Amino acid sequence: MGAPTTVTVVSSSFADFQHEIYLGGLSGAVPELPMTAAGLERRAEEVLERDAFAYVAGSASSERTAAANRSAFDRYRLLPRMLRGATAPGARDLSVEVLGTRLAAPVLTAPIGVLELLHKGGEVIAAAATKELGIGSVQSTAASSTIEEVGAAAGEWWYQLYWPADDDLARSFVRRAERAGAKAIVVTVDTPSLGWRPRDLELAHLPFLHGKGIANYLSDPVFRAKLAAPPEASADAMRAAILAWAGLFGNHALRPADLAHLREWTELPIAVKGILHPDDARQVVDAGADAVVVSNHGGRQLDGAVAALDALPTIVATVGDRADVLFDSGIRTGSDMLIALALGAKAVLYGRPWVYGLGIAGHAGVRHALRLLLADFETAMGLAGCANLAAVQRSLVVTAR
Ligand SMILES: Cc1cc2nc3c(=O)[nH]c(=O)nc-3n(C[C@H](O)[C@H](O)[C@H](O)COP(=O)(O)O)c2cc1C
Repeated sequence: MGAPTTVTVVSSSFADFQHEIYLGGLSGAVPELPMTAAGLERRAEEVLERDAFAYVAGSASSERTAAANRSAFDRYRLLPRMLRGATAPGARDLSVEVLGTRLAAPVLTAPIGVLELLHKGGEVIAAAATKELGIGSVQSTAASSTIEEVGAAAGEWWYQLYWPADDDLARSFVRRAERAGAKAIVVTVDTPSLGWRPRDLELAHLPFLHGKGIANYLSDPVFRAKLAAPPEASADAMRAAILAWAGLFGNHALRPADLAHLREWTELPIAVKGILHPDDARQVVDAGADAVVVSNHGGRQLDGAVAALDALPTIVATVGDRADVLFDSGIRTGSDMLIALALGAKAVLYGRPWVYGLGIAGHAGVRHALRLLLADFETAMGLAGCANLAAVQRSLVVTAR
């Protein structure tokens, strides 16, 4: 056999990632980065500082909810349809509109705090990677970059609000996000205080106390007005600012009715993240939420809590006719996405794997991790016989035996 001639790739899609890799193989190239989420985690453990890896990989207490998030997917199997042409080049349309945001595929990066632990400017890098791929990102309040820096780099993005124990500060965050171009506000309600996280405890490592992940507070006029001296004035002033942050981070008084304030502060759609109980879903939708994100924070908050996937069908049945339901916690593959969508999720949030990618290889690593998921998802759609998301119905999944 002679040397291979030029091969033309006829379609341009996420799934073409595999052609790119196999074509590279013709000249002896193999991917430098792992091809699975588990591989990314293993590589991250090898290359990252111990405390950074522990912060990302760790979950609460026995970590059994984190494990359950994964094993819940094993209770479902896909029942694919054949002879539908959905694998043909260009046959698939993965795009979706959710909360008024148009996405090339039904996925947004989950809000992940303190990305400076993984890479300087991590939020901006990750936001740029999602923009290139046409998917969305949810940007954390607990970020190492400011809302304005993130907004300048991101394409379609939503702002995740940790509602502080001060409504003026909460309103200031929301207004800043709106001005910076956020398309929705995602209120995370499962973290009024931090979960019990042994991996971080063993290293006595809480990044916020080192001044990391609090850039949005330090840059906020309402927060700064509470300080006797600007945080950058001296080490003592920074310590005082960190203490002020600690006093304001958790809001134990927050109730569903408070969403009415948020409604007054912004016209953006509102999603509530961290919902597992159908009654909570009903209450927040009654109070004005446009969407709920079924999530247990990747098992980092209440250990022993139900797997997010197990909570999804009931919540879809309870509020799915009047609110969008998104899914988060445990997504690792394209088939995971298909299962969550078939169970009624409108879109999913993707968490740890791209964070490992960021830590391993910066922008290239995030892009790689996102492309893994997107290519796998598009391939799975085709093989399941789904040309678009309307074809992803409840009948696509059966209970595993
Ligand atoms: C390192 C780390 C930081 C996180 N920071 C936030 C945050 O600032 N705000 C938030 O709403 N959720 C945060 N989460 C939770 C994620 O948004 C998401 O719910 C979780 O990662 C989903 O679990 P999975 O990554 O195992 O799929 C964080 C998760 C991790 C791993």
